[in-house]
Amino acid sequence: MSAPKKLFIKTYGCQMNVYDSERMAEALGGEGYVETKSADDADMILLNTCHIREKAAEKVYSELGRFKGLKAEKPDLKIGVAGCVAQAEGEEIMRRQPLVDLVVGPQSYHRLPEMEAKAREGEKVLDTDFPEEDKFEKLKSRPKAKRGPTAFLTVQEGCDKFCAFCVVPYTRGAEVSRPADRILREAQDLVERGVREITLLGQNVNAYHGAGPNGDLTLAQLIWELDKIDGLERIRFTTSHPNDMQDDLIEAHGTCAKLMPYLHLPVQAGSDKILKRMNRAHTAESYIRLIERIRAARPDILISGDFIVGFPEETEEDFQATMDLVEEVKYGTAYSFKYSTRPGTPAAERAQVDPAAADDRLQRLQALLTKQQREVQDSMVGREVGVLFEKTGRLPGQMVGKSDYLHAVHVADCSREVGELARVRIVSSGANSLAGELIG
Ligand code: 5AD
Ligand code: SF4
Repeated sequence: MSAPKKLFIKTYGCQMNVYDSERMAEALGGEGYVETKSADDADMILLNTCHIREKAAEKVYSELGRFKGLKAEKPDLKIGVAGCVAQAEGEEIMRRQPLVDLVVGPQSYHRLPEMEAKAREGEKVLDTDFPEEDKFEKLKSRPKAKRGPTAFLTVQEGCDKFCAFCVVPYTRGAEVSRPADRILREAQDLVERGVREITLLGQNVNAYHGAGPNGDLTLAQLIWELDKIDGLERIRFTTSHPNDMQDDLIEAHGTCAKLMPYLHLPVQAGSDKILKRMNRAHTAESYIRLIERIRAARPDILISGDFIVGFPEETEEDFQATMDLVEEVKYGTAYSFKYSTRPGTPAAERAQVDPAAADDRLQRLQALLTKQQREVQDSMVGREVGVLFEKTGRLPGQMVGKSDYLHAVHVADCSREVGELARVRIVSSGANSLAGELIG
């Protein structure tokens, strides 16, 4: 038997890319590849790229440049670019960086084994189509090996919202939901391999409308189906758009015990003028009312958000409206960014805000969000929460897990194993994590 070929995958960006990388590794596993943690001993290097941040493509080109020496030493080494930069740049990648053998867009991963074979023959291969078939169905199924207690599962991809700043509708394409039976089969398989918590992924996950036995299922209906799987203890989902937060999903937060009390619900800005220019199709007021309804269903839910400051034409007054919204909502965690242009998106053509003013606003917003995050974390002290243990800690006998609210929790002298769910009383709150003790 020949020695297995080695695959090095570097993943950038969101959780969906993490999931995609796992699935690509599994697909290439069927072609005799095993994963390696070092590019130096790889037979194939795959960069699974993200296009959401500034100068994303430039960063990929400079990363690729670093493989020049390696490729000169090992002419058989194959180098591939996957993900959203592959989709956005396409052929340009091979033109600018001739050492690239393979370019594959996020909707074409099921063709990877075929593409790899062609690349081995010395061909340059590119696939950035948006084919009709479900790539995950066509990809080899996940092998039965045991795995950690948490997993991502993509249920929906793409986005039809076209927020004026965002590249996702261009790189991931139109919104597509996977049929429910495939998701349920994959979830069942994950649980058999030791998974206790599944995070359902989608760029616009709450717009999920996958085919079921009697018509399309909503995300809430899919969650209730997952709820029936024995051994699956926790369900999460991300990322949601406020306008797709349907009543049954809000209700499920109050009634489905496996659905965790955590919701990532980006608002982006607090000024109606800016929200309109962002093409968000909701107002600050409608968002706040929505949060109230969600909290009425699940009072302890932890809300997380995304924010952009310095969007074109944002004034100091507009920015104040974002600060006011944050004050009102009280976020448990949040991600905030300075607007930066993405070529090809509508906002890229507009008058830009002075970068120094945008920097200043970002600092003020982050100071407020950090303070809120800390307050919410500190408010956990004295409470009893569920913790799913994910790994051993640095100290002997210590275990680390995530609470229902997604806070990292350390437990000393812990008698539980990785993958066990326990009730824990929180005793103190540190810089980035909580400490707790087992109950009972
Ligand atoms: N500039 C700054 N932030 C952006 N995001 C998306 N596009 C841009 C952009 N052009 C942020 C949004 C989104 C998160 C994933 O990234 O807040 O919700
Ligand atoms: Fe991008 Fe999200 Fe807006 Fe879709 S809803 S365009 S993914 S920011």
